Amino acid sequence: MATSDEHGETSVSPKEVWAVADDAHIVVANIASPGSAMNIGANAKVCLSFIDIFVQKGFKIIGTATDLKPSAPEFSKWAGPLHAMVGDCFPIPSVFVVCATSVHRIIAPSYAFYPSETTEESQVQSALRNYGAHRRVGHD
Ligand SMILES: Cc1cc2nc3c(=O)[nH]c(=O)nc-3n(C[C@H](O)[C@H](O)[C@H](O)COP(=O)(O)O)c2cc1C
Repeated sequence: MATSDEHGETSVSPKEVWAVADDAHIVVANIASPGSAMNIGANAKVCLSFIDIFVQKGFKIIGTATDLKPSAPEFSKWAGPLHAMVGDCFPIPSVFVVCATSVHRIIAPSYAFYPSETTEESQVQSALRNYGAHRRVGHD
């Protein structure tokens, strides 16, 4: 998730605990992100991007975020899917609720540069080779 401060200084940091809350919102757990929280307090504009590293397609989402604290009446609604993901492993002192203003597809250049030989399956095979990973039998 990328944020920026009141001077336009940008920052980006990885977020693993997030969920699509509804058609317009993504929720991100603030577990250890004081910089993101501070930036969102100064400038609500954020950008999220994520990809399926095997298929090598994903999305970029531009939107505005609020940093919702547990004292907010609607906190448990937004935090619900995140608590379900982390259980008792991590506290979630606040939730970044991102309202999407635009959504853009991200797609690896191979799909455009080598269309005749690039499929989702060929990308998965290539990523498995590059990462030295193996598919478990019975799992896609
Ligand atoms: C793979 C990975 C996943 C992470 N997931 C989260 C997360 O879901 N929520 C969170 O608050 N921090 C998460 N972190 C930790 C933050 O990215 C890290 O503390 C970062 O320095 C926060 O930067 P910030 O304070 O500028 O936001 C993750 C880190 C890694 C490496």
